[in-house]
Parts: sequence; C-alpha cells; structure tokens
Amino acid sequence: MKSIAIFASGSGSNFQAIIDAIQEGKLDAQVNLLVCDQPNAFVIERAKNAGIPSFVFQAKQYKSKEAYETEIIEELNKRDVEFVVLAGYMRLIGPGFLNEYQGRIVNIHPSLLPAFPGKDAIGQAIRAGVKESGVTVHFVDEGMDTGPMIAQEAVSIDVNDTSESLQPKIHAIEHKLYPAVLQRLFSQGGNKNDEKARTY
Ligand code: GAR
Repeated sequence: MKSIAIFASGSGSNFQAIIDAIQEGKLDAQVNLLVCDQPNAFVIERAKNAGIPSFVFQAKQYKSKEAYETEIIEELNKRDVEFVVLAGYMRLIGPGFLNEYQGRIVNIHPSLLPAFPGKDAIGQAIRAGVKESGVTVHFVDEGMDTGPMIAQEAVSIDVNDTSESLQPKIHAIEHKLYPAVLQRLFSQGGNKNDEKARTY
C-alpha cells in the first residue's frame, strides 16, 4: 500500500474524493499527511474529520521556498511518505523538493493542458470561448502545470456556461479521475520512470 501526502490550498474536494475512494476500497493507499499553506482552508477541517494529521504553514513566515520545503520534507520523512499528490496546491514546487521526490509527485489541473495553465483555468476557458475543456493529471516538474501527462478527460462547454456552471462539471470529472489514475499508477509501481505508468 502506498503511503501518500496530499498537498492542498483550498476547499479540498479532491482531498475528500481520494480519502473516500480509499475508504470504499477503490484506492490502495494511505494518506499519512495533509500539507496546507492556507491556515483557513476548509481542507484542514476535512483532514481533522478523517483523523489525518496536517502540516499547516504560511509561506510568508519563512525566508524562502527552500526553508519551508525543507520542513515539509522533514514532515514527509517522519511519516514515511512515498508519494506526493497535489490537489489544488497553488504553489510551484522548488528544485530541492523535486529532487527529493523525483518522479513521485503528481498534480491535477482543471483544463486540457497545455491549454490554460496557472490560476483560474476554468475562467480562462470560459473567457477564451472554447467549446471543450477538461481535466489533466500529470507528473510535476519545475514549471507551472507542466510535466509529463498521465491522463486527460474532456468536458464540453455549452454556450450558456459560466465559470460557476462549468466548475461542478470539472469537479465531477476530477473526483472520479484522480483516484482512478492514482490506483492505476500505484498498481504499476507509481514512478514516472516506469513507462507503463503513463499509458493510462
Ligand atoms: C481543482 O479544480 C484543481 O484541479 C485545481 O484547484 C482545484 C482545487 O479544488 N488546481 C489547479 O488549478 C492547479 N493549478 P479542491 O480544493 O476542491 O480540490
């Protein structure tokens, strides 16, 4: 069973979907830690309810990204975390951290990358007037929502759609896709260097 940490900054609906999938026996993993950079984020409440420990920090209280990521790595090591799952974590991962967890960090993004990286991907798609957007799960590298893709799923956008109406459609895909992709990855070893891991 893979021991994972989930990194999140917000509501944590993807965090919830992952822990629900574990509980339902659909995902063979154990969430050993939540890492959160927003002390008021609802995801912290979700972790408490699930009995999962949290490491909550504020980036502005540290001298550098390297300083807080060093602490995060210590927390991950203490809890024997093998794999890092970003679920709405709105920060770039630094080179030291990437090196430590090379090929063992994945992210989910609410667009068909490489379209609409960065913040508010759903709003970006609406403003661009595209007919289709979707969800991407990918390995993490030093870029913003870049890195080798593992899975994508599309959703069509209706003429009347707004960010508010598109968001639940995207979330519904995310909540099914992320646990399924993780299960697939972990059953194949869960490392980027394993080519089979990317044939989802
Ligand atoms: C999700 O839609 C996720 O794809 C997105 O943040 C949301 C978090 O929702 N991530 C990014 O935009 C990463 N660039 P949640 O807190 O309810 O899981």
